[in-house]
Amino acid sequence: MVVVSGSNSRELAQELAAQLNWDLHDLEARRFPDSEGYFRIPEEAIEGVRKEPVVLVSSTFPDSGIVETMLLLEAINDVRNGNLENIRQQTPQRLDPVGPGIILAVPYFGYSRQDKRFKPGEAISAQAIARLLASRCDGLVVLDLHAPEALHDLTIPVSFASAMPEMATHLTLNVKPDFILSPDKGAIERASAVAKEMGCEFSYLEKTRIDAHTIVHKAKDLNVDGKIVAIVDDMIATGGTICRSSEALREQGAIEVHAACTHGLFTGGAISRLMRYVDGVHATSSLPNPRSVISGGPALARGVKEILPRLSN
Ligand code: R5P
Repeated sequence: MVVVSGSNSRELAQELAAQLNWDLHDLEARRFPDSEGYFRIPEEAIEGVRKEPVVLVSSTFPDSGIVETMLLLEAINDVRNGNLENIRQQTPQRLDPVGPGIILAVPYFGYSRQDKRFKPGEAISAQAIARLLASRCDGLVVLDLHAPEALHDLTIPVSFASAMPEMATHLTLNVKPDFILSPDKGAIERASAVAKEMGCEFSYLEKTRIDAHTIVHKAKDLNVDGKIVAIVDDMIATGGTICRSSEALREQGAIEVHAACTHGLFTGGAISRLMRYVDGVHATSSLPNPRSVISGGPALARGVKEILPRLSN
């Protein structure tokens, strides 16, 4: 059994392969001078890719990740179907098909936030990307997806993996919070799972997003006076959500505030902005980022193990 990866998730693919004790192959992914990509299954990986099952670890972020993921899946499908015909006549040209068994593990699912149509005429991006991916693989594992409902009509099995158990362990060892806060209703399930695992108090804020850079929280009494608090969210982008939440916590007497998330996007100077408001920033390795302190490998491995028996032959 084999794990393969393209250019955006090589470290995480290593972590996953180590967790599963499977072989690991890097696939060729490079850029032409005009920025278009070139993708190939190297000769030494062909036999491995034809074994069952094969897990491709690849994120759909940034946009180039979508193209890369689709083209790597295309190449994997060709190799598994035995279609190796090439104009240089390098052998073999054809092999027997090996059947289904392609699992795509997506550490960070780009476009997950447009999970519904808020105004007429909008593309439901999360659904559109999911359908594209599902057309080229036999099973999908997604790590801490923003809104899992967006993938519910797919015709292939989907496993929703979560790094919250590892986040709970990390916070217990390194932060020792008394209180876990979800910065909005969308993160309640994830953040409360962390609080439950740690036996911590828990609450959430009600957030209204005015635009990409402006959010407002409804005032709420939080029992955080003299406490260490960890804010747990699925992702941090500009950091605005965390900074506003931290302000609310400090106003109510929190003595230490930490931000923790699965996906550390950290766009446009987010880390320096965050460091003015919080005492620590903790993220997983779902995306390469400067605050990656929690491995996403164990969560992805649970997802792969969960989906294996659900793959149809
Ligand atoms: C939104 O609902 C998400 O769960 C995050 O709270 C949000 O994407 C974080 O974005 P930012 O860091 O830009 O506030």
